[in-house]
Amino acid sequence: MKFASKTAVVTGAAHGIGRAIALHLGRAGAGLCLMDRDAAALSEVAAELTGSGRPVVCCEVDFLQRDQVDTAFGTLARTLGPADILVNNVGHSLREAMAPFGEVPPEAWNLMLDVCLKPAMACAHHLIPDMKARRSGKIVNIGSDSAFVGPRANAPYAAAKAGLIGFTRALARELAPFRVNVNTVAPGYIRTRAMAAHTPEQLQKVIGDTPLGMLGEPEDIAHAVAFFASDDSRFVTGQTLIVNGGRWFN
Ligand SMILES: NC(=O)c1ccc[n+]([C@@H]2O[C@H](COP(=O)([O-])OP(=O)(O)OC[C@H]3O[C@@H](n4cnc5c(N)ncnc54)[C@H](O)[C@@H]3O)[C@@H](O)[C@H]2O)c1
Repeated sequence: MKFASKTAVVTGAAHGIGRAIALHLGRAGAGLCLMDRDAAALSEVAAELTGSGRPVVCCEVDFLQRDQVDTAFGTLARTLGPADILVNNVGHSLREAMAPFGEVPPEAWNLMLDVCLKPAMACAHHLIPDMKARRSGKIVNIGSDSAFVGPRANAPYAAAKAGLIGFTRALARELAPFRVNVNTVAPGYIRTRAMAAHTPEQLQKVIGDTPLGMLGEPEDIAHAVAFFASDDSRFVTGQTLIVNGGRWFN
Protein backbone atom coordinates (compact mmCIF):
# COMPACT_ATOMS: atom_id res chain seq x y z
CA MET A 1 0.00 0.00 0.00
CA LYS A 2 2.53 2.51 -1.25
CA PHE A 3 0.05 5.40 -1.23
CA ALA A 4 -1.70 4.67 2.08
CA SER A 5 -2.63 7.94 3.81
CA LYS A 6 -1.99 9.90 0.58
CA THR A 7 -4.66 11.84 -1.30
CA ALA A 8 -4.49 12.16 -5.07
CA VAL A 9 -6.39 14.24 -7.62
CA VAL A 10 -6.63 12.66 -11.09
CA THR A 11 -8.13 14.64 -13.97
CA GLY A 12 -9.75 12.96 -16.97
CA ALA A 13 -10.14 9.88 -14.77
CA ALA A 14 -13.24 8.36 -16.39
CA HIS A 15 -11.56 6.60 -19.32
CA GLY A 16 -8.29 5.35 -20.72
CA ILE A 17 -5.04 6.43 -19.13
CA GLY A 18 -6.68 8.53 -16.38
CA ARG A 19 -8.84 5.60 -15.35
CA ALA A 20 -5.80 3.30 -15.16
CA ILE A 21 -3.92 5.86 -13.06
CA ALA A 22 -6.89 6.24 -10.69
CA LEU A 23 -7.24 2.47 -10.26
CA HIS A 24 -3.51 2.02 -9.72
CA LEU A 25 -3.23 4.75 -7.08
CA GLY A 26 -6.52 3.73 -5.41
CA ARG A 27 -5.51 0.06 -5.18
CA ALA A 28 -2.22 1.15 -3.66
CA GLY A 29 -4.07 2.94 -0.86
CA ALA A 30 -4.59 6.53 -2.04
CA GLY A 31 -7.75 8.45 -1.26
CA LEU A 32 -8.94 9.86 -4.57
CA CYS A 33 -10.62 12.91 -5.99
CA LEU A 34 -11.51 12.02 -9.58
CA MET A 35 -12.48 14.74 -12.05
CA ASP A 36 -14.05 14.29 -15.48
CA ARG A 37 -16.97 15.54 -17.53
CA ASP A 38 -18.32 11.98 -17.93
CA ALA A 39 -20.02 11.50 -14.55
CA ALA A 40 -21.48 8.07 -15.35
CA ALA A 41 -18.13 6.55 -16.33
CA LEU A 42 -16.49 8.23 -13.35
CA SER A 43 -18.87 6.44 -10.95
CA GLU A 44 -17.96 3.14 -12.60
CA VAL A 45 -14.30 3.80 -11.80
CA ALA A 46 -15.26 4.63 -8.21
CA ALA A 47 -17.33 1.42 -8.03
CA GLU A 48 -14.26 -0.61 -9.05
CA LEU A 49 -12.52 0.78 -5.97
CA THR A 50 -15.31 -0.14 -3.57
CA GLY A 51 -13.73 -2.14 -0.79
CA SER A 52 -10.40 -0.34 -1.01
CA GLY A 53 -11.24 1.24 2.34
CA ARG A 54 -10.17 4.64 1.11
CA PRO A 55 -12.50 7.46 0.07
CA VAL A 56 -13.20 8.19 -3.59
CA VAL A 57 -14.84 11.53 -4.40
CA CYS A 58 -16.11 12.07 -7.95
CA CYS A 59 -16.44 15.56 -9.38
CA GLU A 60 -18.24 16.17 -12.66
CA VAL A 61 -16.17 18.89 -14.30
CA ASP A 62 -15.87 20.26 -17.79
CA PHE A 63 -12.32 21.60 -17.83
CA LEU A 64 -13.33 24.12 -20.48
CA GLN A 65 -15.43 25.84 -17.77
CA ARG A 66 -13.17 27.50 -15.22
CA ASP A 67 -15.98 27.96 -12.65
CA GLN A 68 -16.58 24.19 -12.67
CA VAL A 69 -12.89 23.59 -11.95
CA ASP A 70 -13.04 26.03 -9.03
CA THR A 71 -16.13 24.27 -7.66
CA ALA A 72 -14.44 20.85 -7.89
CA PHE A 73 -11.45 22.05 -5.87
CA GLY A 74 -13.88 23.46 -3.30
CA THR A 75 -15.41 19.98 -3.06
CA LEU A 76 -11.94 18.45 -2.65
CA ALA A 77 -11.10 20.84 0.20
CA ARG A 78 -14.41 20.13 1.97
CA THR A 79 -14.28 16.35 1.62
CA LEU A 80 -10.71 15.02 1.52
CA GLY A 81 -8.71 18.09 2.55
CA PRO A 82 -5.20 18.74 1.22
CA ALA A 83 -4.00 16.73 -1.78
CA ASP A 84 -0.54 15.15 -1.80
CA ILE A 85 -0.57 14.21 -5.50
CA LEU A 86 -1.96 15.93 -8.58
CA VAL A 87 -2.07 14.03 -11.88
CA ASN A 88 -2.90 16.37 -14.76
CA ASN A 89 -4.10 13.83 -17.30
CA VAL A 90 -7.09 15.44 -19.01
CA GLY A 91 -6.56 16.04 -22.71
CA HIS A 92 -7.06 14.68 -26.19
CA SER A 93 -5.70 15.28 -29.66
CA LEU A 94 -7.62 16.75 -32.56
CA ARG A 95 -8.29 13.18 -33.74
CA GLU A 96 -10.61 13.26 -36.73
CA ALA A 97 -10.06 17.02 -37.14
CA MET A 98 -6.32 16.53 -37.78
CA ALA A 99 -5.16 18.67 -40.71
CA PRO A 100 -2.17 20.62 -42.04
CA PHE A 101 -1.78 23.66 -39.80
CA GLY A 102 -2.69 26.13 -42.56
CA GLU A 103 -6.13 24.54 -42.66
CA VAL A 104 -6.73 24.40 -38.90
CA PRO A 105 -9.21 27.06 -37.76
CA PRO A 106 -8.33 29.14 -34.67
CA GLU A 107 -11.16 27.53 -32.67
CA ALA A 108 -9.46 24.15 -33.07
CA TRP A 109 -6.03 25.30 -31.88
CA ASN A 110 -7.63 27.23 -29.02
CA LEU A 111 -9.41 24.03 -27.99
CA MET A 112 -6.11 22.15 -27.86
CA LEU A 113 -4.57 24.72 -25.53
CA ASP A 114 -7.76 24.88 -23.47
CA VAL A 115 -8.00 21.13 -22.93
CA CYS A 116 -4.35 19.97 -22.96
CA LEU A 117 -2.47 22.84 -21.32
CA LYS A 118 -4.63 25.24 -19.33
CA PRO A 119 -6.34 22.66 -17.07
CA ALA A 120 -2.90 21.59 -15.77
CA MET A 121 -2.18 25.22 -14.94
CA ALA A 122 -5.57 25.76 -13.30
CA CYS A 123 -5.31 22.61 -11.16
CA ALA A 124 -1.73 23.31 -10.09
CA HIS A 125 -2.74 26.87 -9.25
CA HIS A 126 -5.34 25.54 -6.83
CA LEU A 127 -2.99 23.16 -5.03
CA ILE A 128 0.38 24.93 -5.01
CA PRO A 129 -0.23 27.24 -2.00
CA ASP A 130 -1.11 24.28 0.19
CA MET A 131 1.72 22.07 -1.11
CA LYS A 132 4.20 24.87 -0.45
CA ALA A 133 2.85 25.41 3.05
CA ARG A 134 3.11 21.68 3.81
CA ARG A 135 6.53 21.47 2.08
CA SER A 136 5.47 18.38 0.24
CA GLY A 137 3.72 17.44 -3.00
CA LYS A 138 3.93 15.59 -6.30
CA ILE A 139 2.62 17.02 -9.56
CA VAL A 140 2.63 14.68 -12.54
CA ASN A 141 1.61 15.97 -15.97
CA ILE A 142 0.61 13.69 -18.83
CA GLY A 143 2.28 14.99 -21.99
CA SER A 144 2.80 13.16 -25.25
CA ASP A 145 5.78 12.04 -27.32
CA SER A 146 4.16 14.19 -30.04
CA ALA A 147 5.93 17.14 -28.39
CA PHE A 148 9.24 15.54 -29.50
CA VAL A 149 8.30 13.67 -32.67
CA GLY A 150 6.47 16.60 -34.30
CA PRO A 151 3.53 14.70 -35.77
CA ARG A 152 2.23 15.46 -39.22
CA ALA A 153 -1.12 17.33 -39.21
CA ASN A 154 -1.37 17.75 -35.44
CA ALA A 155 0.64 20.94 -34.72
CA PRO A 156 -1.75 22.43 -32.11
CA TYR A 157 -1.63 19.21 -30.05
CA ALA A 158 2.17 19.05 -30.27
CA ALA A 159 2.35 22.72 -29.23
CA ALA A 160 0.06 22.21 -26.25
CA LYS A 161 1.98 19.14 -25.07
CA ALA A 162 5.34 20.89 -25.55
CA GLY A 163 3.93 23.76 -23.49
CA LEU A 164 3.25 21.28 -20.72
CA ILE A 165 6.92 20.31 -20.68
CA GLY A 166 7.99 23.96 -20.33
CA PHE A 167 5.43 24.39 -17.57
CA THR A 168 6.80 21.28 -15.83
CA ARG A 169 10.38 22.57 -15.90
CA ALA A 170 9.57 26.10 -14.73
CA LEU A 171 7.30 24.86 -11.95
CA ALA A 172 9.83 22.24 -10.87
CA ARG A 173 12.50 24.92 -10.35
CA GLU A 174 10.07 27.24 -8.57
CA LEU A 175 8.73 24.57 -6.22
CA ALA A 176 11.93 22.62 -5.53
CA PRO A 177 12.76 24.68 -2.40
CA PHE A 178 9.40 23.54 -1.03
CA ARG A 179 10.08 19.85 -1.72
CA VAL A 180 7.34 19.72 -4.33
CA ASN A 181 8.36 17.58 -7.33
CA VAL A 182 6.95 18.26 -10.80
CA ASN A 183 7.47 15.80 -13.65
CA THR A 184 5.87 14.72 -16.92
CA VAL A 185 5.10 11.30 -18.36
CA ALA A 186 4.94 11.47 -22.16
CA PRO A 187 3.08 8.50 -23.65
CA GLY A 188 3.44 7.20 -27.18
CA TYR A 189 0.67 5.14 -28.77
CA ILE A 190 -1.45 3.71 -25.95
CA ARG A 191 -4.47 1.44 -26.44
CA THR A 192 -7.36 3.75 -25.45
CA ARG A 193 -10.40 5.00 -27.33
CA ALA A 194 -8.05 7.66 -28.74
CA MET A 195 -6.78 4.87 -31.01
CA ALA A 196 -10.28 3.83 -32.11
CA ALA A 197 -10.20 6.13 -35.15
CA HIS A 198 -7.20 4.21 -36.56
CA THR A 199 -7.83 1.64 -39.31
CA PRO A 200 -6.21 -1.82 -38.88
CA GLU A 201 -3.63 -0.78 -41.51
CA GLN A 202 -2.79 2.41 -39.59
CA LEU A 203 -2.46 0.40 -36.37
CA GLN A 204 -0.07 -2.03 -38.08
CA LYS A 205 2.01 0.95 -39.26
CA VAL A 206 2.10 2.39 -35.71
CA ILE A 207 3.21 -0.97 -34.33
CA GLY A 208 5.78 -1.34 -37.10
CA ASP A 209 7.23 2.09 -36.24
CA THR A 210 7.58 1.08 -32.57
CA PRO A 211 10.81 -0.81 -31.81
CA LEU A 212 9.14 -2.84 -29.05
CA GLY A 213 6.53 -3.89 -31.64
CA MET A 214 3.31 -3.27 -29.74
CA LEU A 215 0.91 -0.61 -28.51
CA GLY A 216 1.27 0.48 -24.91
CA GLU A 217 -1.50 -0.21 -22.39
CA PRO A 218 -2.91 2.47 -20.05
CA GLU A 219 -1.32 0.57 -17.14
CA ASP A 220 2.14 1.20 -18.66
CA ILE A 221 1.52 4.90 -18.09
CA ALA A 222 0.04 4.31 -14.63
CA HIS A 223 3.27 2.57 -13.53
CA ALA A 224 5.38 5.55 -14.65
CA VAL A 225 3.00 7.97 -12.92
CA ALA A 226 3.19 5.93 -9.72
CA PHE A 227 6.98 6.32 -9.74
CA PHE A 228 6.72 10.12 -10.00
CA ALA A 229 3.88 10.23 -7.45
CA SER A 230 5.84 8.28 -4.83
CA ASP A 231 8.89 9.04 -2.73
CA ASP A 232 10.89 6.65 -4.94
CA SER A 233 11.37 9.74 -7.14
CA ARG A 234 12.16 12.20 -4.37
CA PHE A 235 15.42 13.30 -6.11
CA VAL A 236 13.80 13.63 -9.56
CA THR A 237 12.12 16.85 -10.68
CA GLY A 238 11.54 18.78 -13.91
CA GLN A 239 11.93 15.60 -15.98
CA THR A 240 9.94 14.07 -18.80
CA LEU A 241 9.82 10.29 -19.03
CA ILE A 242 8.83 9.09 -22.50
CA VAL A 243 6.88 5.83 -22.37
CA ASN A 244 6.49 4.90 -26.03
CA GLY A 245 8.09 1.55 -26.83
CA GLY A 246 11.16 3.32 -28.21
CA ARG A 247 9.38 5.21 -31.03
CA TRP A 248 11.50 8.24 -30.18
CA PHE A 249 14.52 8.41 -27.88
CA ASN A 250 15.08 11.43 -25.66
N1 LIG B 1 -3.84 7.28 -25.92
C1 LIG B 1 -2.70 7.71 -26.44
O1 LIG B 1 -2.14 7.09 -27.36
C2 LIG B 1 -2.03 8.96 -25.87
C3 LIG B 1 -0.74 9.26 -26.35
C4 LIG B 1 -0.10 10.38 -25.86
C5 LIG B 1 -0.70 11.17 -24.90
N2 LIG B 1 -1.96 10.85 -24.45
C6 LIG B 1 -2.54 11.74 -23.43
O2 LIG B 1 -3.01 10.99 -22.35
C7 LIG B 1 -4.13 11.66 -21.75
C8 LIG B 1 -5.31 10.69 -21.67
O3 LIG B 1 -5.63 10.24 -22.99
P1 LIG B 1 -6.53 8.95 -23.26
O4 LIG B 1 -6.00 8.31 -24.48
O5 LIG B 1 -6.69 8.16 -22.02
O6 LIG B 1 -7.89 9.67 -23.67
P2 LIG B 1 -9.42 9.27 -23.41
O7 LIG B 1 -10.20 10.03 -24.42
O8 LIG B 1 -9.58 7.80 -23.34
O9 LIG B 1 -9.68 9.88 -21.95
C9 LIG B 1 -9.66 11.26 -21.75
C10 LIG B 1 -10.55 11.58 -20.56
O10 LIG B 1 -10.59 13.00 -20.44
C11 LIG B 1 -11.96 13.39 -20.31
N3 LIG B 1 -12.13 14.73 -20.87
C12 LIG B 1 -11.84 15.13 -22.13
N4 LIG B 1 -12.13 16.43 -22.27
C13 LIG B 1 -12.61 16.86 -21.08
C14 LIG B 1 -13.07 18.11 -20.58
N5 LIG B 1 -13.14 19.20 -21.36
N6 LIG B 1 -13.46 18.18 -19.29
C15 LIG B 1 -13.44 17.09 -18.50
N7 LIG B 1 -13.01 15.88 -18.90
C16 LIG B 1 -12.61 15.77 -20.18
C17 LIG B 1 -12.76 12.36 -21.06
O11 LIG B 1 -14.12 12.30 -20.61
C18 LIG B 1 -11.98 11.09 -20.74
O12 LIG B 1 -12.42 10.48 -19.56
C19 LIG B 1 -4.40 12.88 -22.62
O13 LIG B 1 -3.78 14.01 -22.05
C20 LIG B 1 -3.74 12.52 -23.93
O14 LIG B 1 -3.36 13.66 -24.68
C21 LIG B 1 -2.63 9.77 -24.92
